[in-house]
Amino acid sequence: MGHCSASAFIQLVSLIILSGILSLETIKLGFCNDDNSVGCTDIERKALLMLKQGLTDPSDRLSSWVGEDCCKWSGVGCNNITGRVNMLDLRNRYSDGLNGYRSIEHAFGGEINPSLLVLKDLVYLDLSMNYFGGVQLPSFIGSLEKLKYLNLSGASFGGIIPHNIGNLSRLLYLDLGNNYGHPIETDLQWLATLSSLKYLNLEGVNLAKTTSYWLPTVNMLPSLVELHLPSCGLSILPFTLPSINFTSLLAT
Ligand SMILES: *[C@@H]1O[C@H](CO)[C@@H](O)[C@H](O)[C@H]1NC(C)=O
Ligand SMILES: *[C@@H]1O[C@H](CO)[C@@H](O)[C@H](O)[C@H]1NC(C)=O
Ligand SMILES: *[C@@H]1O[C@H](CO)[C@@H](O)[C@H](O)[C@H]1NC(C)=O
Ligand SMILES: *[C@@H]1O[C@H](CO)[C@@H](O)[C@H](O)[C@H]1NC(C)=O
Repeated sequence: MGHCSASAFIQLVSLIILSGILSLETIKLGFCNDDNSVGCTDIERKALLMLKQGLTDPSDRLSSWVGEDCCKWSGVGCNNITGRVNMLDLRNRYSDGLNGYRSIEHAFGGEINPSLLVLKDLVYLDLSMNYFGGVQLPSFIGSLEKLKYLNLSGASFGGIIPHNIGNLSRLLYLDLGNNYGHPIETDLQWLATLSSLKYLNLEGVNLAKTTSYWLPTVNMLPSLVELHLPSCGLSILPFTLPSINFTSLLAT
């Protein structure tokens, strides 16, 4: 009903009277079908535009981010009842063609504007395979409390994984793997509160500090079924560039 204006409704009623045989449902489809989306809210559209402004986008992947209804922008998904943005899929799906690595020419970079926090219903965030040049992952990411899926793999964040990520207690999938050799480390102190987690990938994240306790910590996660921790400095091997070998551990 979101898009049915009062005048459309009046026309609708008079049509019923005139024809008598058309069912209300048929007429409703004719006047108000759109695509069942209610359209995005002004405040969320502006937040997305601020996000766009902060990002570098050398191949203009966000060229569709114009106009009123941000739910129709590429990579943006909305709840079809509330119109609130619930998904941002900004994964870079282009590869460089030579070795199958991400294409830097198609990667977003720059900064992630905290306007992202306006998207309070965000459940799904994928920034994987972009190129943030080793900058610290902003800690405000931990305030996106409804997130169930967070994928920053191959996006070249560096520094220290912010402890705030432990606030994302609804996370089912967390992929922070494969940062293309940008040094990133963590003490895993945030992990214990992610009690819904089913999937965790920390490939290439330096876990050297956690040698004595990472296994019991991981083992406490009640829902974890898939764990990837290759090249995490958990052996005496030096930190190396991404290896294609995955260590997979199944726990129940
Ligand atoms: C709304 O979205 C849900 C979940 O994505 C989907 O199952 C449902 O069919 C959609 N409803 C309409 C009216 O599009
Ligand atoms: C995260 O993104 C990478 C690269 O885009 C993809 O290969 C991987 O499957 C994703 N992880 C999950 C848990 O979906
Ligand atoms: C998120 O986590 C940080 C550090 O773990 C904590 O200090 C902060 O109070 C938490 N914030 C919220 C909103 O829960
Ligand atoms: C994977 O590991 C095996 C055994 O450790 C090794 O022989 C192989 O070369 C590795 N493969 C790659 C692609 O690194």
